Amino acid sequence: MNEHDSETMAGLLINMGLVRVDDCDDADIEIMNTCSVRENADKHFFGTLGQLKKRKESEPEFLVCVSGCMMQQQSIIDTLKAKYPWVDLVIGTHNIHMLPSLLEKVSNEKTKLVDVWPDTDSIVEGMPSERLFKHKALVNITFGCNNFCTYCIVPYTRGREKSRVPDAIISEIESLVDDGVKEVMLLGQNVNSYKGMTDDGSYMDFATLIKRINDIEGLERIRFMTSHPKDLSDSLINAFKECEKLCKNIHLPVQAGSNEILRRMNRHYSREQYIELVNKIRAAVPEITISTDIIVGFPGETEEDFEETLSLVREIEYDSAFTFLYSIRTGTPAASYPDQIPEEIKHKRFDRLVEAVNEISERKNKAYLGKTELVLVEGKSKTDDKTLTGRTDGFKLVNFPGDESLIGKKVKVEITDAKTFSLMGQIIE
Ligand code: 5AD
Ligand code: SF4
Repeated sequence: MNEHDSETMAGLLINMGLVRVDDCDDADIEIMNTCSVRENADKHFFGTLGQLKKRKESEPEFLVCVSGCMMQQQSIIDTLKAKYPWVDLVIGTHNIHMLPSLLEKVSNEKTKLVDVWPDTDSIVEGMPSERLFKHKALVNITFGCNNFCTYCIVPYTRGREKSRVPDAIISEIESLVDDGVKEVMLLGQNVNSYKGMTDDGSYMDFATLIKRINDIEGLERIRFMTSHPKDLSDSLINAFKECEKLCKNIHLPVQAGSNEILRRMNRHYSREQYIELVNKIRAAVPEITISTDIIVGFPGETEEDFEETLSLVREIEYDSAFTFLYSIRTGTPAASYPDQIPEEIKHKRFDRLVEAVNEISERKNKAYLGKTELVLVEGKSKTDDKTLTGRTDGFKLVNFPGDESLIGKKVKVEITDAKTFSLMGQIIE
């Protein structure tokens, strides 16, 4: 979500006539777009911001702007005002479209501005985007979240859930396709609760939206993220069978394997219900790949609770998993739970979990050896000019030798080697 906000801001700046530079030291304006989901990012932000002070003092014309969901927290604004008064502009997540006018104001009037909106019902359409990739694009379908998982700051920083109208999404994707995009990633904190108002005043659900997007000529792949297990419908499972462009991959955050922890997290499903859901998805779409998010060390997590997470991971056999150490987010219910877990225990459990997750990922990847996969070529490898990199339908990252003229095309690749996080191969067609 933040990455896409950055693309939008870059698009707005380019429309103002500005150009992107590779080195921050050459920039006339620096914008730090922040994330508040976990504590590490907070710390990183203030450290990095502090390093800009010297340059700002010696070059007053150099503009420093900070944005993103951290700015939606009053405590952060208070710290900025007290300790970083030299920052030129602070904007939030609901007023990104105002970035050009606010930047002009601080630049012309040599003033400092804090312009952060609490929440808004309206969605600004027609925003530009300076995409990171030429052939794939991020497309918002919902904003905000109503779920209030007890550890999570997002409902407080991004506000209540709002769905874009289907026509706006379809026409955005049509123009992306005209611009060369082959793959879209539909974005929402919980895409499964998408509820977009149509022209006749009725509501369209997520599976129907996917079917409409599947009809867009020239588009080759559809992905989505993130999907709350409690809201995953049978019609979405059917969409995997009916929509040939919908990639056979799902990110299905489980967060924990113990029912007591799931209840305290306010996730609204049990371990058994989650497993049943995965079984249903796999029965309908046997080749589907599944990834997840897991939090370790949620307040009150006992050794037994943690072992239930480990056993769930082994039972489901995820293709990959993002693992997180629980971090206190001020203002969320779990922040004030009395039974916080000591850091040392959290870290030990985290290492055990990562080991289990990686062992399974590697084993699952090895099962691809000798198989042929259709890979959409995304670009050149960062480390080797002669190596291309792309993704399979199931979102596996594949590296293979090839010419850059293939970027944006689908190629058949025979898998010759498999590691924990990627596959290697040779083009056969
Ligand atoms: N601590 C650790 N991980 C968190 N996440 C969200 N909030 C927290 C927190 N306070 C994780 C969840 C979510 C992912 C985006 O970030 O696993 O799915
Ligand atoms: Fe946070 Fe839960 Fe909403 Fe995801 S569904 S953004 S974890 S509150």
